[in-house]
Amino acid sequence: MGSMMKLDFLPASEFFYWLGLAAAGWISLKAACQLVNAARAFLFSTGVKVESFGRWAVVTGATDGIGKAYAKELAKRGMSIVLISRNEEKLDKVAKEIKEQFGVETKIIAVDFGEGPPIYVVIESVLAGLEIGVLVNNVGLSYEYPEYFLDVPDLDNVITKMININVMSICKMTRIVLPSMVQRSKGIILNVSSASALYPVPLLTLYSATKTFVDFFSRALHAEYNYKGIIVQSILPFYVATKMSKLRTPTMQKPSAETYVKAALNTVGLQVQTNGYLPHAIMGWITASLLPVSLVMKQAMKMNQGIRARSLKKLKEKGD
Ligand SMILES: NC(=O)c1ccc[n+]([C@@H]2O[C@H](COP(=O)([O-])OP(=O)(O)OC[C@H]3O[C@@H](n4cnc5c(N)ncnc54)[C@H](OP(=O)(O)O)[C@@H]3O)[C@@H](O)[C@H]2O)c1
Repeated sequence: MGSMMKLDFLPASEFFYWLGLAAAGWISLKAACQLVNAARAFLFSTGVKVESFGRWAVVTGATDGIGKAYAKELAKRGMSIVLISRNEEKLDKVAKEIKEQFGVETKIIAVDFGEGPPIYVVIESVLAGLEIGVLVNNVGLSYEYPEYFLDVPDLDNVITKMININVMSICKMTRIVLPSMVQRSKGIILNVSSASALYPVPLLTLYSATKTFVDFFSRALHAEYNYKGIIVQSILPFYVATKMSKLRTPTMQKPSAETYVKAALNTVGLQVQTNGYLPHAIMGWITASLLPVSLVMKQAMKMNQGIRARSLKKLKEKGD
């Protein structure tokens, strides 16, 4: 009623002028805050000293790509590393490489996150008693190539594995590590989501949906536990040149895992949700804040239809 009364005294044109000005002011203020935060993170690297949160870092999916880059960057900062992946030989090799290069202690755990709950008994027994400062929930499974949901090869198996690897692993690893972090009032949990959690991505439907889970889980958990000294971060990369993305040559837009992780670690303590790397932050800002979701989804559909067609052609040529 009050605002209606006010309208009686204010000519409509003037009301909309002030409303527009207030909206523009609010949007500018928000953008300025985001810009200052991004500058602090990406240009001045003023995030927290992750190595001061505890002696050990635990990294899932640690023998390749983004996970290996996190393991090496944290070891470079003096942390001892627990590496978790499927292949024992690869784990031994990366653990040796880290020990020789950075002189820190390492432990390895060979498990397949696709198997679901039983593996966590093994993980919990190895981690018991370690002072864990950082947990990097990095392991993830995507499609072999973009595909319509019902046409994903071996769909039932993919559903189970993708939920076990992308969703279950985050919950269970957090369940194991968080209690001792809370007890020490200190800890960092870095959850690798994906830019495909910024908007629904057609032809990567299940992957995109699981990565949204990672993003929501992380941000809500941060709100619950930050007052207890725990930082939880949701990391949403666009393309990074790794085995999963099938990109061999890094570019500025599609960086190497090492370049990406170096930048992303500087955002810890500054951004709860981050694209981790300045060019990706700009892409994220354009796609998630500036453009309408319907347009972004249409473009993603077009792009993924192109990748799908090329992938199917290659598979046909190979005779699969
Ligand atoms: N690369 C990108 O463009 C991109 C973009 C957005 C988000 N991401 C996310 O970033 C994360 C890392 O991706 P990436 O590109 O670095 O992948 P990657 O290069 O393929 O490396 C995957 C790592 O996880 C391990 N792994 C895979 N499946 C596993 C399983 N079932 N159980 C245990 N370990 C397993 C692999 O080792 P073994 O095979 O020896 O087990 C390897 O160490 C994922 O969560 C992904 O969704 C990637």
